[in-house]
Amino acid sequence: MATANSYILLVLVALVALTPSTSASPLKNLNSDILHIFLQLLGFPPGLIPEPVENFAISIVDLCPPTVNFTIQFKEPCYVTYVYPNYFAPVFTGNITIGKISGMRGHKDQLPSTGEWTDMYDVTVVGETLVFKFATETVTYPRALFEEVKTCTYGPLIPDDPNELIYQVLLFIG
Ligand SMILES: *[C@@H]1O[C@H](CO)[C@@H](O)[C@H](O)[C@H]1NC(C)=O
Ligand SMILES: *[C@@H]1O[C@H](CO)[C@@H](O)[C@H](O)[C@H]1NC(C)=O
Repeated sequence: MATANSYILLVLVALVALTPSTSASPLKNLNSDILHIFLQLLGFPPGLIPEPVENFAISIVDLCPPTVNFTIQFKEPCYVTYVYPNYFAPVFTGNITIGKISGMRGHKDQLPSTGEWTDMYDVTVVGETLVFKFATETVTYPRALFEEVKTCTYGPLIPDDPNELIYQVLLFIG
């Protein structure tokens, strides 16, 4: 495990060094490509995040296990359908480590149980499935559904909901 952690840490350090965090890339979709490689190195299917990604940045926040926080920027609010309609705010943030994305802000799904746009907090890889934790429920889908990188459609901004406060309290309780 120590060896795997050191390896991932090296990869993350290399990526942090390589990540173009401010200037626009001269190569179209270079940021999307690096992001999708990054997702795969951490055990996720590349299509988990759609394109085109305008910009993304990562910083190391923890060494054991190696964890980075990320900020992904879309030019406009980005809509894409996997199983349900998904929404990515122009600024989407969270923490990522091997097999787990947590503390997500700026990603919602329109859940069929309520028809409401609901915040997604965590994604965990469990074998050949992905477990998605929402504010109100947890759902599991085959990872194969997220292998293909989809292109999003721009749409209206969805304001943050009143669950915001509850989320902050949950984070605090940990
Ligand atoms: C990571 O978190 C720190 C502290 O909250 C913040 O200052 C930094 O901008 C974040 N980095 C990214 C890439 O989101
Ligand atoms: C990200 O990880 C750091 C270090 O483990 C932690 O302090 C921070 O609260 C996490 N942020 C979120 C949004 O979960």
